[in-house]
Amino acid sequence: MKKFYSIIFAMAALGLLFSSCQDATQTDTDDTNSNAQTVADAGEIYSLPDLPYEYDALEPHIDERTMRIHHSRHHQGYINNFNNEIAGTPLENMSMEEIFSNMSEHSTSARNNGGGHYNHKLFWSILSPNGGGEPTGELAASIDESFGTFQNFKTELENAGATQFGSGWAWLIVNNAGDLLVTQTPNQDNPLMDVAKVQGTPILGVDVWEHAYYLHYQNRRGAYLEAFWNVVDWDAVSARYMAATQ
Ligand SMILES: [Fe+2]
Repeated sequence: MKKFYSIIFAMAALGLLFSSCQDATQTDTDDTNSNAQTVADAGEIYSLPDLPYEYDALEPHIDERTMRIHHSRHHQGYINNFNNEIAGTPLENMSMEEIFSNMSEHSTSARNNGGGHYNHKLFWSILSPNGGGEPTGELAASIDESFGTFQNFKTELENAGATQFGSGWAWLIVNNAGDLLVTQTPNQDNPLMDVAKVQGTPILGVDVWEHAYYLHYQNRRGAYLEAFWNVVDWDAVSARYMAATQ
């Protein structure tokens, strides 16, 4: 009888394990990257950049599971799709900035997936486990000049993120006149694209797709945007500002 119960217990445990694997697979499936395919190494044009920190380094503000899925599944998916889209076309030999400057002439897939790659690469680069606080130097002075106070700028960026209907991004950009502006774009568009309503060079971006926050914050996009400030790497944003204004 004891052996019988042991067998029943083992079968139940296996069933639970199988069920949880299925759940994990379903949860991790990217709704936007259903066409993602592995690109052969020989045909790889863009590749996934390593994060300069561990997946759990931004806890508790951005959780480990979100970072892992966001980087290894979502970002990788955009890269795979973009590589597949541009392979063998003239876009293969153009910089992303060149492609974006004539985005309206290229395919929707190039727009969504090229933007997806560029935007996420920028996003990872302006985050840090040692982030937070406030900018200093020329960037701080320019933010004060453009927005009145750093707090006003934060409020404006949070509003841009909160009011972007559906998926998209909120940005701090430098326009052609050298002015700082806050703007927002839908989907994976960005302010370098000729299709963007407000154009300029992005120096800070925050991803407001649900995949960026839903596992930890559920529907509370505002709470995620508030927490985002704790992991902003202002040195990285300042470096982008200096490069964009030279
Ligand atoms: Fe994202």
